[in-house]
Order: sequence, then C-alpha cells, then structure tokens
Amino acid sequence: MSKGNILIAGGSGFLGSYLCDYYVSQDYFVDCLDNLSTGSKNNVKHLLNNRLFSYTQHDVTKKLPKDISDKKYDFILNMASPASPPHYQRLAVETLEVGSQGTKNLLEKALKDKARFFHASTSEVYGDPDVHPQPESYKGSVNCYGPRSMYDEAKRYAEALIYVYHEKYGVNTTVARFFNTYGPRMDPHDGRVVSNLIVQAIKNKPLTIYGDGTQTRSFCYVDDLVNGIIKLIESNEHNPINLGNPGEFTINELAEKVLSLTGSKSKITYSPLPGDDPLQRKPVIEIAKKKLNWEPTIDLETGLQKTIEYFKNQSL
Ligand SMILES: NC(=O)c1ccc[n+]([C@@H]2O[C@H](COP(=O)([O-])OP(=O)(O)OC[C@H]3O[C@@H](n4cnc5c(N)ncnc54)[C@H](O)[C@@H]3O)[C@@H](O)[C@H]2O)c1
Repeated sequence: MSKGNILIAGGSGFLGSYLCDYYVSQDYFVDCLDNLSTGSKNNVKHLLNNRLFSYTQHDVTKKLPKDISDKKYDFILNMASPASPPHYQRLAVETLEVGSQGTKNLLEKALKDKARFFHASTSEVYGDPDVHPQPESYKGSVNCYGPRSMYDEAKRYAEALIYVYHEKYGVNTTVARFFNTYGPRMDPHDGRVVSNLIVQAIKNKPLTIYGDGTQTRSFCYVDDLVNGIIKLIESNEHNPINLGNPGEFTINELAEKVLSLTGSKSKITYSPLPGDDPLQRKPVIEIAKKKLNWEPTIDLETGLQKTIEYFKNQSL
C-alpha cells in the first residue's frame, strides 16, 4: 500500500527527479511524465525498478494517457518546461505551449481529482527588475517581445491561469518562484552559468562570462530548494512564494570561486551580454521564512564543491 498517488510532470528533469526520489522514499506512488525534450531518463534510472515508481514518456501539452487520466491523484506537480535560455530559445513555441496548454491540462486533472497542484514558476516573472531585491509583491519588468519573452511570458501566463483555476474553480493550487538553482544532475551542456563555468574549468578551457561580469545572481543549492518545495506543497499556501538563496554574487565572483575550487588553470574571457539579460537578481524570502519556516542552509562554496565533484564523475 502506498500513502497516495503523485503525478510529477517534468519528473526526469534536474529538479523533478529529486521530487520523484523524495516522494518514493515517503511511500507515495509516483507517476513521472516527461517528454525528454530537455531532461534525461538517467536522472530517474535508479527508480525504474521500484514498485512505487512508473515512468511514461509523454508531452503534457497533449491529452493525458488513458491510464493516467483514469487514475486519481492526491498531488500534481508541474515541473515541465525548458528552463535554460539556449533550451527555451531553441524550443520557443514548445515553451509557450507547455506553460499554457500543458499547465491547463494538468490543472484540469487537478480539478477533476481534487488534487493539490504545485507549479514551478521562476524569478524570470520579474524580468529585468527595477526593484531590488525582489519581493513577491513586485509585479515585474518583462519584455513581452524579445529573446527571453517565450519563457518569461509562458511562466506569467501559467501563473494567471493558476490564479483563475484557484479563484474560480477552487483548485487547491500553490506556486513557487525559483531563483537560479544548481547542483548534481544539472545538464552539463544546457548553458546555465554554474554548469558552463564548472565544465569549462574542469576541462581547463577559458571560462566565458557574458557582459562585464558585474551582473548579480543568487544561487540556491538543489537540496535547499527541494526542502522548500516540499514544505510549500505540505502547507496551505496558495499565493506565489519566492524560493531562493538571498546570497548575492556577481558572475565575476562566481567564476573566481569556481576557479579556486577546481584548481583550474583556465583564464576568463568576456563575450557580449545577450538581450534582456537581468542585471540584478536576489529574492526576498520573508514569506517563505514566516509561512514555511524555510530558509537555505547551504553556502555557495559548499554547494559548488558538491556540484564540481558530481561533474568530475560525468563524461563531459
Ligand atoms: N533550475 C532552475 O534554476 C530553475 C529556476 C526557475 C524555474 N525553474 C523551473 O523549474 C522546472 C524544472 O526545471 P529544471 O531546472 O529541472 O529543468 P529541466 O530542463 O532539467 O527539467 C524540465 C523537465 O521538463 C520536461 N519537459 C519539458 N517540456 C515538457 C512537455 N511538454 N511535456 C513533458 N515534459 C516536458 C523536460 O524534458 C525536463 O525533463 C521548470 O519548470 C523550470 O522552468 C527552474
């Protein structure tokens, strides 16, 4: 007997796979749906023979498979979406579709099953912010017609849809806005800054920094984020909540840390900053602290060290 059923869309991605692990470990039956557009079955291969885990390759913008549609879920987690700029720019229409039709299909299922619905939103809903740091009440500065708009607007549309399903149809929804998260199981080649720099450093290749490196980001280690997600799912909260590490670092500082922790001889090179790249990013996490009793505990050096160890054991 399991404790209940959980559907995890995008479950074989970087973050979704940790949620599959956690809920299987808690005796839930986990159905993982993923179209493998950016994720990898490797992230869940250790679960494939587990009696509490089932994997289905499926695009959530399409009608749900019959066995999933017929089953009743207690929780539905929507982690499905390309997440890094090279991926969402390559899969631009698909990114808009998964944020819109994909989210709608999963909300309809949550409505039918009376399930708690969790959605992975992003700090990108704040765009290139003119308020710093960013609280949940900040409404954002987003370009709806530009190189990041397919991702930012898909996520904003998804939040609007979730609001309607909650307010109008009473679906038990919750939304987290994640800030840059890193750690083992990241795709080494998906173009995110932490993985880019670590891979280049391990290979003793020049570290590429876009812009002059004075732009800032806040980096959250994956274990901290996953703890926050679980607390949020288990809470009664409905409004979007920031989950991220408020430590703020310039990209130059990040690159220096990567060089010193890897002992790499690589040099740093600078390339032009892509359009609409946010100059500053830092979450206000007072709501998560107060309502979820959550805050990150893993500092950047410790998290980078664990991530570097992981990448050193991968074929890069
Ligand atoms: N990692 C971060 O720093 C970060 C920050 C903010 C938000 N997020 C959000 O968190 C979620 C997970 O991100 P991640 O970092 O694990 O990225 P990821 O690319 O590793 O995981 C996303 C997963 O969704 C799957 N997917 C994409 N489109 C799909 C579709 N139409 N149908 C079914 N599966 C589909 C992919 O194959 C992949 O396995 C995403 O929604 C992302 O936007 C991540």
